[in-house]
Amino acid sequence: MAERETWATRLGFILAAVGSAVGLGNIWQFPFKTATTGGSAFVFVYLVAALVIGLPAILGEFVVGRRANINAVEAFDKLKHPAWTVVGALGLLTGLWILSYYSVVGGWVIRYMAGSVTGAYFATPAEYFGRVSMGWEAIAFHAGFMALTASIVAFGIEDGIEKATKLMVPSILVILVGLAAYAFTLDGAAAAYDYYLSPDFGYIANNLADIVPFAVGQAFFSLSLGMGAMITYASYLGDDDSLPADGSLIVVLNTFVGLLAGLVVIPLLFAQFGEVPSGAAGGGPGALFVSVADAFAQLGGLPGKALGFVFFGVVLVAALSSAISLLEVVTSYLVDNYGASRPVVAFGFAGGLFVVGTLSAWNTAWLGWFDTLAYGVLLPLSVLLGVIFVGWVYGPEAVDEIKKGTGGGETFATAWLWSMRTYVLVGVFVTLYLGVTGIYEAPPIPVL
Ligand code: PHE
Repeated sequence: MAERETWATRLGFILAAVGSAVGLGNIWQFPFKTATTGGSAFVFVYLVAALVIGLPAILGEFVVGRRANINAVEAFDKLKHPAWTVVGALGLLTGLWILSYYSVVGGWVIRYMAGSVTGAYFATPAEYFGRVSMGWEAIAFHAGFMALTASIVAFGIEDGIEKATKLMVPSILVILVGLAAYAFTLDGAAAAYDYYLSPDFGYIANNLADIVPFAVGQAFFSLSLGMGAMITYASYLGDDDSLPADGSLIVVLNTFVGLLAGLVVIPLLFAQFGEVPSGAAGGGPGALFVSVADAFAQLGGLPGKALGFVFFGVVLVAALSSAISLLEVVTSYLVDNYGASRPVVAFGFAGGLFVVGTLSAWNTAWLGWFDTLAYGVLLPLSVLLGVIFVGWVYGPEAVDEIKKGTGGGETFATAWLWSMRTYVLVGVFVTLYLGVTGIYEAPPIPVL
């Protein structure tokens, strides 16, 4: 899409932004973070974070994007605050960092598509995940996912993927609702809903410091905040669009997909194990794969294989559409500004990130470390700088921009600005502080 174009319809923008936001963050990460971080307590803090911090912050990125009408790196320059270009650059780096392990999980998804055809994971879902999630096989499929992402970006054939994305959002909803309804009928569903949906406020109060970095970081990750993506998308918006209306819809839809994925994964885990099991294959990064694999296995035969294939196929589209937007940020920047060759940049970065990602593919402990650093440090830092910029540096102009297309909206705009200046800023700062102080040591470098 050329820089000066604007979205043909409001729906086009919303679907594209939701397509970027809905990805492995919602379908893979949200259920497993729920399972490892206190169940309903995590869900509750996440919901509050998405509404109270995520929504104002996404509006901040929209304001910067629409006002600057250019990509995230150059946006701040264009707004005559060149020093803040560091925010765009940090976002770009954070996106690349995330892509290195996002691709490993994308590789698992491809592996599971193939496994659905043969029913390979039917017999022992947990053991199967343990086997394919780490080591040479995981590295090979990680390479496959990265190559696919790079090819699409290199040859500028996003068109096809964009169309697939439009279908992806409704199909994901249909499949997840279907699976959630199936999970509802299983033994253990009641215990699962209790675990998932009835927060114990005493527990939350006592463990807030442990839950916050995960839950707030999850909200940023899932809303594609702090990576320049939303700035870029909003740069194509026209002045007659209401940013608050669009932003609210995007936040609600995105949150809904995550909640729905939890309504599938958590009851399926309870049905299979009677609880949320510990360990990577059960309640950890394998939660999605192990839980739905068992459901497809129960269906058995051709229906189980077909549904498994379709399910992982749709998840793959969701993952690809997100991965592409992560790689596209750096590619379009270098192509537009330095006349670099699109394939060289796309494959060059993908190659480098593939190498970095082999650590995560070799051992999920590394994947966990990359992930922790992303949501515990990089994302909150990048979001924090953006919030400070919009709230305290760009203030009055930001108010001016957010009012456009809302037919007045003075009161809302002022309230929003003050939320950015005060509690949003404090909330993100506290998240960053807790993330920085809670980071654990990197696992050892593997010796081959
Ligand atoms: N929000 C996406 C997800 O939940 C990840 C992403 C971030 C995609 C930034 C694009 C840009 O999977």
